[in-house]
Amino acid sequence: MRPRGLSRLAPGCTRGHGVVRLLAPGFLAVAFSALGFAVGAAGPVTDGPGDYKGSYDSPDYVTRSFSLESRIGKKADLLAIVRDTPLGLPPLPVPENNPLTREKVELGRKLFFDRRLSLNGTQSCAMCHIPEQGFTNNELATAVGLEGRDVGRNSPTLYNVGYKTRLFHDARESTLEQQAWQPMINPLEMANPSIGWVMAKLREFEDYDGLFESAFGERGMDMNTVAEALASYQRTLLAADSPFDRWYYGQDAEAMSESAQRGFELFSGKAGCSGCHTIGEDHALFTDEQLHNIGTGYERAMAPAPTPRPVTLAPGVFVMVDPDVVAMVSAPGSGNDLGRYEVTGDVDDRWHYKTPSLRNVALTAPYMHDGSLLTLEEVVAFYNRGGVPNPLLDPRIRPLGLSEQEEADLLAFLEALTGDYRPLVLDAFVAPIGDVGSRYDDSSPP
Ligand code: HEC
Ligand code: HEC
Repeated sequence: MRPRGLSRLAPGCTRGHGVVRLLAPGFLAVAFSALGFAVGAAGPVTDGPGDYKGSYDSPDYVTRSFSLESRIGKKADLLAIVRDTPLGLPPLPVPENNPLTREKVELGRKLFFDRRLSLNGTQSCAMCHIPEQGFTNNELATAVGLEGRDVGRNSPTLYNVGYKTRLFHDARESTLEQQAWQPMINPLEMANPSIGWVMAKLREFEDYDGLFESAFGERGMDMNTVAEALASYQRTLLAADSPFDRWYYGQDAEAMSESAQRGFELFSGKAGCSGCHTIGEDHALFTDEQLHNIGTGYERAMAPAPTPRPVTLAPGVFVMVDPDVVAMVSAPGSGNDLGRYEVTGDVDDRWHYKTPSLRNVALTAPYMHDGSLLTLEEVVAFYNRGGVPNPLLDPRIRPLGLSEQEEADLLAFLEALTGDYRPLVLDAFVAPIGDVGSRYDDSSPP
C-alpha cells in the first residue's frame, strides 16, 4: 500500500523562460542527507520533503512519504519564544498597532493553513511555505500556484521574517500586515478575484465563529484583522541559537567545528560575504536588507532559448512540455525577471535582488530568487568564480580564489547557521489541514 503522502508533483517552472524544471534526483538525495531526513520510530519527523523522489522516474518507484495522520503536532509557547528571543537575534520589533497576543497567533496559524483562502479551496499559504521544508519548498525551484500557475520566483523562508523591513525578492512591500493579502489576490497564487470575495467567504465558515472577536474584540473580522492575525503568526517564527550563535555570542568554544570557525574567518574576511550578509556585535540577521546584482537574474536572461523538457507525472510516466505551454498559464510579462527594475523602472536596478538572511540556510534549498542553485556547494562555487559578470555586477562580487579546503570551510560555516527550529515545525503540525477544504462548497460563491 502506498501511504498517503505530504508530497505533491514536483515540476518547478522557471520564470526566466517559462521552462518546467524538475529538481534533479541527485540534488534531492544530497538535500535529504543535508537536512538530516529521518525516518521511523525515532520520533516525529520535523524536516525533509514529505516524499523521497530519488528514483521517481522509474516504474519501480515506491513512495516513502508519511501519512498526514501520523504527523503529530505539539503546541509550542510561541509568545515565550518571542519574549525570550533566541540567542543571536535582536529583540523582535512588533508594531504598536498590532501587539502580539496568543489569540491572534492561534488565529493566524489557522488562517495560514486554511486552503479555503484560495479561489477554489485548494491552496494555503503553508503549501508554498511548508513547515517541514524550512517554511519554503525544497522540491520546487520556483513556486507553483493555483492550478499549476507559474509564480516564477522561489518561495522565501518565513523563519525570522518578522525582522524584515523589506519584503519580496524585489523589496516591493514593507510590512507583514500589508504583504498578507498579496498572495490571496495574486492570480498566479491563491487567485481570489478580490478581497471582498475572500471576506464574504470567510464569514460563512462557522469554524471561525467568535475567533476574531476574541482576538480583536469589537473590530471582529475584517480585511485588516485577517492580515494582522497572519502577520502575528509569522512574526513568532524565530529560529536561532545555532552552533554559530552559541560559539560567537554564547562564547562556547566547542559549539562550532574548527572547519566552520575557519569558514567564519573567510565569511567575514577574504570572501567578503559579511559585507552584505551582515553580522552585528550582539546579534546577526545576515542581511543588509539592500538589493544587489550578483549576476543571478542576468544569467537567466542571457541563457539560450529553452527546449521542451520532460516532466514526470507519475513513476515511469512523463510528458515533454513545450515552454509555450507553460507560458500559457503564466502571467503576461513574467517571461523575464528583471528584479528591482520591475518596481522602480530604473535601468540600473536590473537584476538587483534583496540580500536574503542566511540563518537556517541549510534548510531552505534551492537558492536564489529563482531557485537556480540547488545546493550550498553550488552557491559557494558560484561566489568563488565571481558570480556572473555583467555590467551591473556589484563590485564586491569577484573571483575569490578559494581552495577546495576553503570552500569546504565556508560550507561548514553556512551549515552551522541552523537554529532551533523543530518546536516551530511541531507547532505548525497542530494546525488542521487536509480535509478542511472538502467542507467548503465551491458551488455557491458568496
Ligand atoms: C503559490 C505559492 C505561494 C503561496 C500560496 C503563498 N506564498 Fe508567500 N511567497 C511565495 C513566493 C514565490 C514569494 C516571493 C515572491 C516575490 O518575491 O515576488 C513569497 C513571499 C512571501 C513573503 C515575503 C518574505 C520575504 O522574505 O520577502 C511572505 C511574508 C509571504 N510570502 C507570506 C505568505 C502568506 C501569509 C501567504 C498566505 C496568505 C502566502 N505567502 C502564500 C509563494 C507563495
Ligand atoms: C554584494 C552583496 C553580497 C555579497 C558580497 C554576498 N552575497 Fe550572498 N546574496 C546576495 C544577494 C543579493 C542574494 C540573493 C540573490 C538572488 O536572489 O538572486 C544572495 C544570496 C545568497 C545565498 C542564497 C540564500 C537563499 O536563501 O537563497 C547564499 C547561501 C549566499 N548568498 C551566501 C553568500 C556567501 C557565502 C558569500 C561570500 C562568499 C556571499 N553570499 C556574498 C548578496 C551578497
